[in-house]
Amino acid sequence: MPPILEVLARRRVDPPPVWLMRQAGRYLPEYRELRERAGGFLDLVCTPDLAAEATLQPVRRFGFDAAILFSDILVVPWALGQELAFGSEEGPRLSPPLAGQSLPLALFAMANRPERLKPIVETVRQVRAALPEDKVLLGFAGGPWTVATYMLAGEGGRVEEARLAALKDPFGFRMLIERITNVTAGFLAAQIVHGAQAVQIFDSWAGQLSVAEFERWVIRPTRQIVETIGHLAPVIGFPRGAGSRLAAYARETGVHAVALDEGAVPDGLPDDLPVQGNVDPLALLAGGEALDREVDAVLARFRDRPHILNLGHGIDKATPIAHVERLVQRLRG
Ligand code: CP3
Repeated sequence: MPPILEVLARRRVDPPPVWLMRQAGRYLPEYRELRERAGGFLDLVCTPDLAAEATLQPVRRFGFDAAILFSDILVVPWALGQELAFGSEEGPRLSPPLAGQSLPLALFAMANRPERLKPIVETVRQVRAALPEDKVLLGFAGGPWTVATYMLAGEGGRVEEARLAALKDPFGFRMLIERITNVTAGFLAAQIVHGAQAVQIFDSWAGQLSVAEFERWVIRPTRQIVETIGHLAPVIGFPRGAGSRLAAYARETGVHAVALDEGAVPDGLPDDLPVQGNVDPLALLAGGEALDREVDAVLARFRDRPHILNLGHGIDKATPIAHVERLVQRLRG
């Protein structure tokens, strides 16, 4: 069995298997070349030959134990009918933003475009066919809460917009979360059926919520996804910034593993629950002995648990390739 699937089945592997969040991306010259060739990020995502190549590049270069599907969490709002643009300067944009609109009406009137996801599922198929047997293909999607924050604000980071919408119109917001949850479960099921051997749910904006909000908008929809697809393949949950709510998240969602951000500690998690993480992306950017110390500390922290080595968040695009090589070397000796 490939090492990552061993760990997800709650067995420890020594040294732990490794992959990195955002391992395909602009820190790789071969990725920049591919993106240029495709004409843009979304074109790259939607051209299966090229997206499959982008997925495989980091595995080839560094020998990671997993390939993660080359796509983005924002393709789900795109399939729900919002327009999506990835500018080269600012972050991604969804338009029109849903904030200020009547959510029940906006959702009712939105043109569903599920066919927009078909090329991405085709990428999954191609990657699995090309990937060596000892490497795992990971599918993914955004957590419904995080996806909702983008759909409301039209851009990232404005969590207050979503919190306000949820407070002012709990019924409409709940309809939005349910729509996202259903499409996400279906999309993940399609990825699994076509070759993804495990999936990760990225809830990047799960921090800074009240206790009640975290329960309602993070835990509950995640549990619903796990109930729908969790028997098909293991689910890794990544509630970034969950802090002291991490143990409740793990227990109540039923995820098979949790991905930890660089500030997270495993206190309160069951001893045999697989964990992933949590090297500080800034230590990877710094490199040198600071990186060695960080890798050693993370390995020591999770020595007694089933553990997949990863970052606490995505790789910074300024990260030198030599630093990634050094991390892998430090791990495998
Ligand atoms: O990890 C991987 O290598 C697989 C592909 C992947 C991408 N995005 C490709 C991407 C994954 C798993 C994601 C997840 C994602 N996307 C998240 C959750 C994880 C996190 O980082 O918190 C979020 C919030 C997004 C939304 C998103 N997409 C943002 C905020 C940005 C802009 C910031 C940036 O890094 O440019 C993107 C663009 C994006 N997604 C790029 C890549 C490789 C860069 C696009 C480019 O080539 O210009």
